[in-house]
Amino acid sequence: MKRGVLYIVACAAPPARDVGQLVRAAQQDEWEVCVLATPSATRFLDSSALEELTGYPVRSSYKDPSEPDVLPPPDAVIVAPATVNTINKWALGICDTLVLGILVEGIGKKLPMVALPFTNYAHAAHPAFEDSITKLRSWGVLILYGPDVYPLHAPGTGSEHLDKYPWELTLSALRPETTDPSDLLFGWRQRQHVISAKLSASSDSIAKLRSREAVILYGPDVYPLHAPGTGGEHLDTFPWELAWSAVDQIREPRPGKDRASPLASS
Ligand SMILES: Cc1cc2nc3c(=O)[nH]c(=O)nc-3n(C[C@H](O)[C@H](O)[C@H](O)COP(=O)(O)O)c2cc1C
Repeated sequence: MKRGVLYIVACAAPPARDVGQLVRAAQQDEWEVCVLATPSATRFLDSSALEELTGYPVRSSYKDPSEPDVLPPPDAVIVAPATVNTINKWALGICDTLVLGILVEGIGKKLPMVALPFTNYAHAAHPAFEDSITKLRSWGVLILYGPDVYPLHAPGTGSEHLDKYPWELTLSALRPETTDPSDLLFGWRQRQHVISAKLSASSDSIAKLRSREAVILYGPDVYPLHAPGTGGEHLDTFPWELAWSAVDQIREPRPGKDRASPLASS
């Protein structure tokens, strides 16, 4: 028995050309799969091969108002690769493409949705991106993003890192603890509520402190998070000097009392 209809949404980034491998793995997981693409992503895809694989057309634009739906409604959605552009527009609730309409609607429908961003560090460093991820997570979307998931790459080198893009994480996130499809939805909501409560508590605290002008040096570009129990192995890269230079930048100069950084070599 099929587990339900899975929409696989591809955005315009290099892994999109390999989305067929996620389709095949999802079919092995007993999903009925439909592929959708952002308009820019269609340039990366072999639409006819994907149509042959799934039995459904690859959709990227809205149907005409008088036309019937050609795809069955989704039970779950994977966005992979997810671009900075789509993540930001999704978080803002923009629905100017078919894919965004489905993603925005999916939040309201409380669909299980998983996104696996693929982006370089320069795109990812835009402050809107981190905000969008925090918002989407707090609304129940599972965003597989962080140094422990897939490291950011240098601009212009995306195609060199395709073999490590962890497609399989998206499907394993959707695997139910039981084989009953209704338990998938139930379990998902329970898990996501716990995740979003934890995340919004910690990100709220950071945002509040930052709004009171505290400098919180935190984020993937500052110091990567490590696996539980491995903290002691990463002490040599802890960026003490960032804290010192932040203090130097924000404190009032005190004539005659300035001291040299204790981290300076001389
Ligand atoms: C060859 C090429 C590679 C790209 N790679 C990425 C990428 O890895 N990550 C990303 O966020 N955007 C990437 N972009 C930029 C996106 O395609 C661009 O932001 C586009 O507006 C995304 O549209 P979409 O989110 O609607 O798919 C790439 C663009 C091109 C032409």
